[in-house]
Amino acid sequence: MKSKKRVMLIYGGISSEREISIISSIGINESLIRNNYEVIKIDADENLEKEIKKYKPDVIFNALHGTWGEDGKVQKIIESTNVPYTNSGIKASELAMDKHKSSEVFTKMNLCYPNTKLTSLKLIEGKDIMNYPYVLKPRNEGSSVGVGIIKNDDDKEKYIDLNKERDEILIQEFIDGKEIQVAIYGDNKTGSIEIDPKNEFYDYESKYFDNGETKHIIPPRITEDQIVFVENLALKAHNALGCKGISRTDFILEKDSGIFYILEVNTQPGMTPTSLVPEIAKSKGTDFDELINWIIDDASTNR
Ligand SMILES: Nc1ncnc2c1ncn2[C@@H]1O[C@H](COP(=O)(O)OP(=O)(O)O)[C@@H](O)[C@H]1O
Ligand SMILES: [Mg+2]
Repeated sequence: MKSKKRVMLIYGGISSEREISIISSIGINESLIRNNYEVIKIDADENLEKEIKKYKPDVIFNALHGTWGEDGKVQKIIESTNVPYTNSGIKASELAMDKHKSSEVFTKMNLCYPNTKLTSLKLIEGKDIMNYPYVLKPRNEGSSVGVGIIKNDDDKEKYIDLNKERDEILIQEFIDGKEIQVAIYGDNKTGSIEIDPKNEFYDYESKYFDNGETKHIIPPRITEDQIVFVENLALKAHNALGCKGISRTDFILEKDSGIFYILEVNTQPGMTPTSLVPEIAKSKGTDFDELINWIIDDASTNR
């Protein structure tokens, strides 16, 4: 009998999304075992390179999110060991995680991106940088950490305080409309979902601790043509950033204009069995185990 393929599942890490990565890893581990892989689970830290050299896996399943795991740094460490790994490479990860740099790519491709200023907390304190409401967000974060809708001076003060450790932030035009997210998976397959969040916007609580109050609507309540259009935009964005494997792109369909504004591409989207990419894939007939298997096969063959 052929020996089992050895998969190193890396999770946890050091980012503010550590907790989410741990949750993602539980379902991925179970699925890898069901898919008959040998699994080595590693809570990834600065010893990662040593661990890879020690266990010599056939492939690495990256279940990390956010800083270090999603921004090209872990990808760089893994590439130095020549072991294939899941999802995007160094360059695409760096670009996608950096909302400023990726916005430049989107704008060049004529995707609609909300009017945004890259600035710092020092520069906006006591100044009217943009008319309310606007969105204040970190340049390099995920899971809505640090993101706030600023409607008045009190909100501004609150979010300046929340982000006080950050050198750079983005001040972005608020887009009022439906939130539509598009998954890319399985050799250019696409699917989409509409999110109606529990809270005012799709914040950390609405994403992960919503008691089922955030509505996930598949297919989104938009026209067939709009679905085809937005899924095609996401595929273009995925390819323009050079993404591999799965990704999830966030859009807002502006109520008044009918314009789809792109917010970002996520190269390490949440992978709990109820996360959006698995949910979208399932609605299109690809179950969680098939999805996990495809991600591994893609990592092993598509580099
Ligand atoms: N310009 C915007 N207009 C309206 N809502 C926004 C805007 N930017 C972000 N949001 C809200 O904040 C959430 C998180 O923002 P996003 O840019 O996707 O950052 P993250 O990487 O943290 O997910 C979005 O899903 C959306 O609900
Ligand atoms: Mg997002």
